[in-house]
Amino acid sequence: MPPPELNLINNAKFAHLAQPVQVIAVTGGKGGVGKTSVSVNLASALTAHGKRVVLLDGDLGLANADVFLGLSPRYTLAHVISGERTLDEIMVSAPQGFHVVPAASGAADLVNMGVAEHLGLVRAFSTLASRVDVMIVDTAAGIAHSVLQFSQAAQHIIVVICDEPASLTDAYALVKVLSRNHGVSRFRVLANQVRAPGSGAELFHRFERVTARFLDVVLEFAGEIPEDEYLRRSIREQRPVFDAYPSSPAARALKKLAICADTWPVPAGPRGNIEFFVERLVRRNAVRLEALP
Ligand SMILES: Nc1ncnc2c1ncn2[C@@H]1O[C@H](COP(=O)(O)OP(=O)(O)OP(=O)(O)O)[C@@H](O)[C@H]1O
Ligand SMILES: [Mg+2]
Repeated sequence: MPPPELNLINNAKFAHLAQPVQVIAVTGGKGGVGKTSVSVNLASALTAHGKRVVLLDGDLGLANADVFLGLSPRYTLAHVISGERTLDEIMVSAPQGFHVVPAASGAADLVNMGVAEHLGLVRAFSTLASRVDVMIVDTAAGIAHSVLQFSQAAQHIIVVICDEPASLTDAYALVKVLSRNHGVSRFRVLANQVRAPGSGAELFHRFERVTARFLDVVLEFAGEIPEDEYLRRSIREQRPVFDAYPSSPAARALKKLAICADTWPVPAGPRGNIEFFVERLVRRNAVRLEALP
């Protein structure tokens, strides 16, 4: 039996009060395909589009979201889990108007949580619900446990691919493990570093043909981002290209992606609540909510 406090999440009154939050994981299998570039720019573009956005930095490696934004967070989600800091204390504000939550690197903290920490994390995120419309999760490369956990917990998964054999095989491996072992069947595929207009769609179809043969998944084309020197320059300047060079080809494509993402459905009921995201994030843990519809 889950502790009574956790049943709050199933409580109709609580569900009524909680606001739906769109949770989008940006992933891709291979390193360097553009996950962080897409994440920070999508956060920026959705903010400009009037959304209240939080970027959860699920990759505390070297080239992570805070570096892209010129931020230096002192704490991570690990401090929230341990009870040392509140979520508000660890969040950092990006000049573009959204917030960044530095996540603990690796999933160890999430997996090894006890009941108290688990509840603390659910509560911490529930305080965000009334202040946030969209949460974007930038994941690390590969199929590490944390990547799978963040991806399967999100409502939408953007798989970033580019026209390199390793990108396609790594994205395939990611889609395969998420569909076979984590019950994920829908993916949105974004072609990045596209060299000629329209070749992103071709790349998508190539990828889709392979997945359709071997996997029981539905893929949707989320569009293409051109290879753009302005994007590289913006990374060096530690600003999203969307803000630094708004009329650049990459910025325009990222704006299109944000407008499109804004139309993606937010699940109704508890599934659309941010607490549900946290629940799914830590669901391999000892405590689980039993009766979610
Ligand atoms: N559309 C683009 N146009 C030009 N260069 C790009 C584009 N997207 C990504 N890059 C280049 O690829 C590099 C890697 O991008 P990014 O860090 O976003 O990838 P990542 O998938 O997050 O990498 P990691 O797996 O290391 O986290 C960038 O530093 C940039 O030079
Ligand atoms: Mg990255």
